[in-house]
Amino acid sequence: MTEKRKSGMPVAYLLGRREFYGLDLSVDPSVLIPRPETESLVDLAIERNPGSVLDLGTGSGAVALALKFHLQETRVVATDADLAALQMARRNATKLNLDVEFRHGRWFEPVAGERFALIVSNPPYVALGDPHLPALRFEPKSALQAGADGLDAIREIAREAPAHLLPGAWLLLEHGWDQDKAVRDLLADAGLESLTTWPDLAGIARVSGGRLQS
Ligand SMILES: C[S@@+](CC[C@H](N)C(=O)[O-])C[C@H]1O[C@@H](n2cnc3c(N)ncnc32)[C@H](O)[C@@H]1O
Repeated sequence: MTEKRKSGMPVAYLLGRREFYGLDLSVDPSVLIPRPETESLVDLAIERNPGSVLDLGTGSGAVALALKFHLQETRVVATDADLAALQMARRNATKLNLDVEFRHGRWFEPVAGERFALIVSNPPYVALGDPHLPALRFEPKSALQAGADGLDAIREIAREAPAHLLPGAWLLLEHGWDQDKAVRDLLADAGLESLTTWPDLAGIARVSGGRLQS
């Protein structure tokens, strides 16, 4: 373990676990290590107390499981394109005895024809060639990288979201420190309203959202 740590492997992978929003989650290199800043996304989702929520790109299941833990009456659906990640998310759900529906596929593919009272996502948002990428080399590229400007995933999610939101429902997206304006523009292009950006606990613009007209 010491040798692996010296080579830069994150402690969470060495231990096989990471705490997120008070939950003890199992992790391995098939999933992104849940980050404290993503807890802001969970806070905003809990405040809305939705009847149903969709978590896109669930990874270890962090966001979906934290939501189910705190919103027991809410139906929680979570998707990921990576089968190994979904397997880890299911393992975490079983361990925590939380009833989340996990589905495999690209973004909205597994929820065709369905609408939700809230959609949340912490999608990949790092630009190709970003200087932070070497430090993140132990985590799956598919969880991090999203095209030349880091916005490919957000572009796709924003475009398709209105067909899966109930009237008045919010789409909340985590993004990089310098992407808030670009993300609000994409949400506006998709026809969403009440566009807002919220800071994380470090004061960095971290989550942007918009809602479908009521
Ligand atoms: C930044 S990670 C977030 C993981 C977890 N939600 C969290 O906050 O810790 C992004 C996730 O999106 C998934 N993903 C990437 N491209 C996808 C796609 N086209 N469709 C669905 N999921 C995708 C990755 O497999 C990864 O699990």
